Amino acid sequence: MAIRLAVLGRACQSSRRVAVGDFSATPSRRCLSQDANRSIAQLLQWRPVGEAAGVVVNGYVRSVRSMKGHRFVSLGDGSSLPPLQAVVPIDQGEGLTIGAAVRLTGSWLPSPGTGQTHELHTSSVEIVGPSDAKTFPVQKKYHTSEFLRTMPHLRPRTPINATLLRMRSDAIASLTHFFASQAFTQTHPPIITSSDCEGAGEVFTLEPATKGSSAPNQSIPEPPFFRSKKYLTVSTQLHLEALAQSVGHVWTLSPVFRAERSDSSRHLSEFYMLEAEMSFVDDLGSIMDFAELMLRSLSTDLFGSSTVQQLLSRPSQTGSDLAPVDIVRRRWEGFMRPTWPRITYTEAVALLQENADMFSQKPIWGVGLGAEHEKYLAETVGGSQTPVFVTDYPRDIKAFYMRAARPDLASAESGSDTSSPGPTVECFDLLVPELCEIAGGSMREHRLMPLVDAMKRQGFAAPALDATGNAGPRSDGDLDWYVNLRRWGCPPHGGFGVGFDRLLAYLSGVSTIRDIAAFPRWFGRCDC
Ligand code: 4AD
Ligand code: MG
Repeated sequence: MAIRLAVLGRACQSSRRVAVGDFSATPSRRCLSQDANRSIAQLLQWRPVGEAAGVVVNGYVRSVRSMKGHRFVSLGDGSSLPPLQAVVPIDQGEGLTIGAAVRLTGSWLPSPGTGQTHELHTSSVEIVGPSDAKTFPVQKKYHTSEFLRTMPHLRPRTPINATLLRMRSDAIASLTHFFASQAFTQTHPPIITSSDCEGAGEVFTLEPATKGSSAPNQSIPEPPFFRSKKYLTVSTQLHLEALAQSVGHVWTLSPVFRAERSDSSRHLSEFYMLEAEMSFVDDLGSIMDFAELMLRSLSTDLFGSSTVQQLLSRPSQTGSDLAPVDIVRRRWEGFMRPTWPRITYTEAVALLQENADMFSQKPIWGVGLGAEHEKYLAETVGGSQTPVFVTDYPRDIKAFYMRAARPDLASAESGSDTSSPGPTVECFDLLVPELCEIAGGSMREHRLMPLVDAMKRQGFAAPALDATGNAGPRSDGDLDWYVNLRRWGCPPHGGFGVGFDRLLAYLSGVSTIRDIAAFPRWFGRCDC
């Protein structure tokens, strides 16, 4: 018996998923009509006992298997890791080639075969975007991640890469919901900036491609487009601090750019940073509490989504460059676990020094931790389970804006332990096994003179303070505005930045961060 199509709409609504984080199947977006707006993911969830006629579905042909009187067509639309099976009579099969965009109409009914509960028996096939299967590079076979990386414009057509795109989208939806629930204001700080926030000299400089034509005398060099040198932002933190002085707690998910000549699996030249800045916050512990809450909420929410569940129940031949499912599952469980360990840098160095033989670089107080040190700490202190906070690094290896540790803590450290000879700042790095640092944060130096002193110490051109203590504009006028924020109602504040692509790379199990960004850019490569 054919079921009237109207039933399908109701079936989709009643099958509304339970997990809060499953944004892929939101009925309001996908189930509004019985027509081709319905995704394959939704159709696969609908399991009528009889036959439902007149079902329309859009998708791309993943594979075709020809039998005597019909063809089995595997159809995907990026909404689901498992495909839809269509049974197409031989006389309707023309143009059903791998990669083709098609619209199929037919009956949706229980499948006698294995591997799917239901299948579509087509009554009509429309080829809406033909594909030359002989030249289409994404065939139904295993392609290495390396090969797929050579064609980022086609890579998302593979089921696993479509799943990673959906996971990113679900994560952003979940974060937006979370931050709103915590009364944070979402903001859009600028991409073009006057300064190198981190002071690490890894900025890209911005220039127009062509010189202006208005210069009357070509022998006089054109002034820069923005009057002084500008850069692509490496972090939106400094602008977020200004905004936090207006509306309180703020956050953003912004593209940032770093000109690191690094060929590692953890570095991109363009990536997304999730940054939060909190006003009227007195201590670093509160910032870490919030970062932990946010990441736990995100992972708990996403873990229940169909996207992540599909990733965790994928057949072994799908995306075999991903870390094994049990390892990826352990990462999610670690994120959802309460109370992540916290250890100071000084304690961490002491721990590393006890095991110094294990490392190629000797751990020394005052020197930055290497990847091998961070890996060891994540594995031992966090037991390869939860992320680990390492706090209170030496002042001289951290950014100028970090607040000096309370004198009692600093003197206790340097007085009681000769391995910590210098002052520290109130900051943290959040470490996970394999990928090391996924987030960094700190209390900010909110007092004018200590900030000016810190900048001088780090070799910044000292702001020219006028008689009122105001930092006046300079020709390279980069950070004066930031310094001046300290003059008018600057409460204690702090925040953090999460490497969003590193976070997603870790939780998805891809072997390199280059496989989580849709169009990755890294040293020497920016393909399309
Ligand atoms: O530790 P970072 O440099 O911190 C900041 O930029 C702060 N201003 C953030 C803040 O407090 N608002 O960068 C933050 C995170 C790192 O922990 C790392 O996960 C990621 O950004 N990251 C990168 N991810 C991919 N490719 C790169 N080249 C990265 N550099 C940093
Ligand atoms: Mg850092």
